[in-house]
Amino acid sequence: MDLKIVFVTFLFFYPFIFVNGQGNGLSFNYYNKTCPQLEKIIRDSMTSAIKKDPGTAAAVLRLVFHDCQVGGCDGSVLLDIKDKNHQAELDSPKNFGIRNRELVDQIKSKVEAVCPQQVSCADVLVLAGRDGVAIAGGPNINVPLGRKDTKIPHTKQQADVGLPRNNVDLAKAVEVFFKEAGITYEETIAILGAHTLGVTHCDGIMDRLYVNKTVSNPKSEVEFVKYLKKKCPKDNSTRFTTQFDLDPTPQTFDNKYFANILSGHGVISLDAEIARDPKSIGYVKKFANDQEAFFRVFSSGFVKLSTLGVLTGDKGIIRKQCNVL
Ligand code: HEM
Ligand SMILES: *[C@@H]1O[C@H](CO)[C@@H](O)[C@H](O)[C@H]1NC(C)=O
Ligand SMILES: *[C@@H]1O[C@H](CO)[C@@H](O)[C@H](O)[C@H]1NC(C)=O
Ligand SMILES: *[C@@H]1O[C@H](CO)[C@@H](O)[C@H](O)[C@H]1NC(C)=O
Repeated sequence: MDLKIVFVTFLFFYPFIFVNGQGNGLSFNYYNKTCPQLEKIIRDSMTSAIKKDPGTAAAVLRLVFHDCQVGGCDGSVLLDIKDKNHQAELDSPKNFGIRNRELVDQIKSKVEAVCPQQVSCADVLVLAGRDGVAIAGGPNINVPLGRKDTKIPHTKQQADVGLPRNNVDLAKAVEVFFKEAGITYEETIAILGAHTLGVTHCDGIMDRLYVNKTVSNPKSEVEFVKYLKKKCPKDNSTRFTTQFDLDPTPQTFDNKYFANILSGHGVISLDAEIARDPKSIGYVKKFANDQEAFFRVFSSGFVKLSTLGVLTGDKGIIRKQCNVL
C-alpha cells in the first residue's frame, strides 16, 4: 500500500481512535436501540438514592475506581463470593469502606425489567458513577458504553496489587495506577479531585500519620496533622470507626477540594502531597481557581479510567444480577 495513504488514513482516524475512547470496542450510542430508556432509569434511580443519602454519589464513584483498577471495568467489585475457601476481591483490606454495592444491584434490576439481558453491570456502574458526579453538582460526562461483565471473579491478591496503598506517593500513583489507563499527569491531579466527595475512616490515614514519619509537614499542615492524630490515635482504637469528610463540602462535587488541600487540610496522604510537590502544585492552584478547568480535565480522566481493561463482545457476559455469576 502507498505509504502516503497509510499516513493520511492514520491522521484521519487517529483522533477518533484515541480521543473518543473508541478503538476499545465501546461506543456512545451502544444501547440506543436495545435499551433507549437506560440513561433515564439510571439518572432517576441515582437522583432518588442521593436524595435519601447524599453520601451515595461518593460511594458509587469510589466503586467505579475500585472496579476498574482490579482486572478492568468489568463489574467484578459487585460480585458476592460465598465460597469460604476463596479469598475474594472484596476481602482485600484495600476495599475497606466500600459501600452501596447493593444499590447498583437494585438499579440493574430496574434495567432488567425494561431491557432484559441487554445491559452489563459494568456499564450500569459506570453510568451510576458519572450520574452521581453530575447530580452532586459536577460535570455531565459523556461515557462510551458496551462493557461486558467478567466471567470469572477476581481474587483478594489481585485487589491487593491493583488498588493503591493509602500512603501511595504521587510518582507511584502516576506510574503504576494511572499510566495504564493513559491518564496524563494533569488528569491524575484532576481525578484525585474525586476526593471532593465523601469520607475516609481513620484506617485510610493511619499510615500517613504514623508510618511515613519521614514526610515533614509544612507549617500549614502541622496543626491539622495534630488534630488528625488526636482523632485517630496510634493504638487503632478508632481505626475502623471514626470518619472524616474529605473536604469541607463532601456532598458537593466542586473545586473546594483544591483550595482545601492548599490550606494544608488534605486528609489522605496523596491529597496532602499534591499540594506540596512543586510539580503538581501548579495544577492544584489552577483547579482551585478555575472550576471549569477542573471539570473538563476530570471528565477526560474519568472517561479513560472507566474504559480501563474493558471486556467487549464474547470476552465477557451480561449478568442478570450484579452480585452473582
Ligand atoms: C490513587 C490514589 C488514591 C488513593 C490512595 C485513595 C484513597 C482513598 C481512601 C483511603 C479513601 C477512604 C476510604 C474509607 O476509609 O472509607 C478514599 C475514599 C474515596 N475515594 Fe479515593 N483514593 C485514590 C484515588 C481515587 C480515585 C481515582 C477516585 C475516583 C475517581 C477516588 C474516589 C474516592 C471517593 C469518591 C471516596 C469517598 C468514598 C466514600 O465516601 O464512601 N479515589 N480514597
Ligand atoms: C443515540 O446516541 C447518541 C450518542 O451517540 C445520542 O446523542 C442520541 O441522543 C441517542 N439517540 C437516542 C434516540 O437515544
Ligand atoms: C510511604 O511509605 C511507603 C513505604 O512504606 C511508600 O511506598 C510510600 O510511597 C510513602 N508515601 C509517601 C507519601 O511518601
Ligand atoms: C494497627 O493495625 C495495623 C493494621 O491492622 C497493624 O499493622 C498495627 O500493628 C496495629 N497497631 C497497633 C498498635 O495495634
